[in-house]
Amino acid sequence: MTDILILTGAGVSAESGLGTFRDEDGLWTQYDLNDVCTPEGFARNPELVHDFYNARRDNCLNSAPNAAHEALGRLQRDSRHKITIVTQNVDDLHERGGAAEVLHMHGALSGALCHSCGARWPAPPVMDPLAPCPECRLPETRPDIVWFGEMPHYMDEIHRALGQASLFVAIGTSGNVYPAAGFVSEARAAGARTLELNLEPSSVAGQFDAARLGPATRTVPAWVDEVLAAE
Ligand code: APR
Repeated sequence: MTDILILTGAGVSAESGLGTFRDEDGLWTQYDLNDVCTPEGFARNPELVHDFYNARRDNCLNSAPNAAHEALGRLQRDSRHKITIVTQNVDDLHERGGAAEVLHMHGALSGALCHSCGARWPAPPVMDPLAPCPECRLPETRPDIVWFGEMPHYMDEIHRALGQASLFVAIGTSGNVYPAAGFVSEARAAGARTLELNLEPSSVAGQFDAARLGPATRTVPAWVDEVLAAE
């Protein structure tokens, strides 16, 4: 049983039509992340934050998983390997591509959270900043997304998996945001081999044993087919 930890970023969903953040036409060229991806931005203008995530939720609902998501779903169903998928993405394309138990360390568009009482519930397609929390009734609802300055989810589980992985693969992430950008060095320190599948070298490319550059819909199925063909 080979333990493989896979970390994905926005690049794995790019060919499904969902925007990345730091490419030349990325979301952070259209919005100031301080306005839509921080608790301070939400306190200043909750309506702008809801508009931002309602647009991304609509984009996600009208998109489809691509060959990279489907290949990772195929890999995870192969019983010879223990595949842990950790994603920085908040879309559900891994799940719709056949993956299960995906660790969404930055939260998910499908979730809603009360900023006041901490209640969680399934997000409606369009969230209304004036809608009351179903628990405390205060109009403090927000998308269940981890913003800058907030603690990502599943960190204990992720550190455990990084300590056990024999292979760490990063797919479609620029390696600019911690703690995810630090996972490769943690995996290496625990003895894992490391592979980067990306359109271009990430900011932490130098820490990988190997890299394959190209679109995820080409590099990921090719890599998965190799893993599944090996004894
Ligand atoms: N195939 C493979 N890789 C791609 C593709 C593609 N078709 N298109 C873009 N990429 C690569 C880019 O080269 C880049 O390295 O995906 C990466 C996207 O990087 P970012 O836009 O920085 O996205 P990501 O790394 O996921 O950002 C991490 O930052 O803003 C926060 O919370 C947000 O989760 C996000 C985190």
